[in-house]
Amino acid sequence: MSVDYRPGFETQREELRDERLPVEGSLPAWLRGRYLQNGPGQFEADGEPLNHWFDSYAMLRRVAFDDDGVRYANRFVESEDLAFERSGGGVRTPFPGTAPDRPVWTRLRQALTGVFPDNPVIGVARRDGEPMAVTESPWGLQFDPETLATEERVDLTAGLDCDLTLGHLHRDPDGTVLNLGVSYGRETTYTLFRRDGGEATSLATLRFDEAPYVHSFAVTERYAVVTVGGYGLDLSSLLVGSLTGTTFLDAFGPLEGPTRFVVLDRTDGERVATVPVDPFFVYHYANAYEDDDELVVDLVAFDDESAVTGLTLENLRSETPDLPAGDLVRYRLPLDGGDAERRELRRGPLEFPTIHYRRRVGRKYRYVYAAETHGGSSLPTDLVKIDLETGRARTWGEPGSHPGEPARLSRRRDDDRAGPRPAAAPPAVRLPRPVLRPD
Ligand SMILES: [Fe+2]
Repeated sequence: MSVDYRPGFETQREELRDERLPVEGSLPAWLRGRYLQNGPGQFEADGEPLNHWFDSYAMLRRVAFDDDGVRYANRFVESEDLAFERSGGGVRTPFPGTAPDRPVWTRLRQALTGVFPDNPVIGVARRDGEPMAVTESPWGLQFDPETLATEERVDLTAGLDCDLTLGHLHRDPDGTVLNLGVSYGRETTYTLFRRDGGEATSLATLRFDEAPYVHSFAVTERYAVVTVGGYGLDLSSLLVGSLTGTTFLDAFGPLEGPTRFVVLDRTDGERVATVPVDPFFVYHYANAYEDDDELVVDLVAFDDESAVTGLTLENLRSETPDLPAGDLVRYRLPLDGGDAERRELRRGPLEFPTIHYRRRVGRKYRYVYAAETHGGSSLPTDLVKIDLETGRARTWGEPGSHPGEPARLSRRRDDDRAGPRPAAAPPAVRLPRPVLRPD
C-alpha cells in the first residue's frame, strides 16, 4: 500500500523566500489575492514526539495569485506554546494528546483553572478584516497576510462568560460573527453569542452535567443548530489524571445522555426545539436550511469516538492505519415534535464539507465539496463535488497528491476582469513537496 502521505506527518521547514511556483495550464485572469491556510507544521516538542494530530504546532501557508503568477510562503504561528517549546521547555499547556512538560503542581493548577493551549492549529478566521489563526481556545493570533508574521494575541472571550470559543464560526455578510463559547467546570456551558465589531452579545446558554465536546455548529436563516452529547470528556478523570499525565485523548469517550440537536433562534436565543437522535460524532457541517416545518441539516457523521481517538500520529503513520470514516448524511428535524429522519448522501471516508458559503449558507443549496480518502490512505486522496439534486459526484485526484480542505472560489459579479473559461483540465499550481526540517 502507498504510504506517500507520510511526509504530511513530518515537521516542515519555514519557507520565507516567497518562492514562485510552476503553473500548469492557465489560471483565470480574475484570480487575484491570497489563499491563507493553517495546519500542522511541527510534530515534536523539544525533540520528543507529540502523540496526536491535533497536538502539532500550527504553520500558516500563503499562496498569492498576482499578475506574474503564484508565490508561496509558509511560517509558524508564534504562539506562546511555540515560544515555550523553542526555549527548550517542551509542551507548555495541556495538548489534546500530550501532557504538559510541567511540574505536577503546575499541571494540577492548569487543570483546576482551565488553562488552554494558544497553539492555533484549526484554521484561519477574520476579525475586523484582519486574519487570525484560531483553535478551540480563548486566543486568536492575528497575523500579517503577506509576511505571515504573528502580530497580536487577541482574547476572543472578551465580554463573554466562557473559557474558549470555537475555531469554526459563522459570519454574516455585514461582518457580524455568530459563534459558541464553551466553559468546562462543575457544569459545561455552551453560550451562543454574536460579535459585532468589538461588542459581544450572549444570546443563549445551554447547560449540561456532562462535558460534551463541540467543534462547530450549523446555521439556517433563522436558527442556530447545535449537536449536543454523544461523545465528550470525563472531567473528573482528567482532573485527577492531571497528576499522572492523563490527556484529553485519554478522557474522551461516549457519554451517558442522549445525542440531540438543539435548535436556537439566532436573533434572541430562544430554544425552538430539541430533537434526540441515535449517537454519532460530528466535526463539520456542510449546511442547514429551513424546509417548511422541518430543518435540513447536512453533516459528516462518524459512528463513534474513534473520530478523535483514532487520529494518533502513531496510527496515522502506521503501515495499516485503522482510520475513522465519516459519511455525508442528511438529518431532517421536525420542529413541531416527532422523530428525526437520517439518510446517507454519500458514503465516505470524506471530510471538510464546503459550500458556496457567501451565497448559500443557511439556504437550500445544491453542491457540496469535500476531501475524500481512498485506498487506506491516512490523508485525503481526492477532491469531490457532490450534486445533491442528482446524487452524482465528480472527483479529482492524482497519484502522490493529498488535498486538504477545499476552498471554493467564485468570480465576483462586480469583477470586470473576466478571464478565459476554464479548460477541460483544471489548471494546477504545483506546491513544493513538504520541505522537512533537517534533524
Ligand atoms: Fe475543523
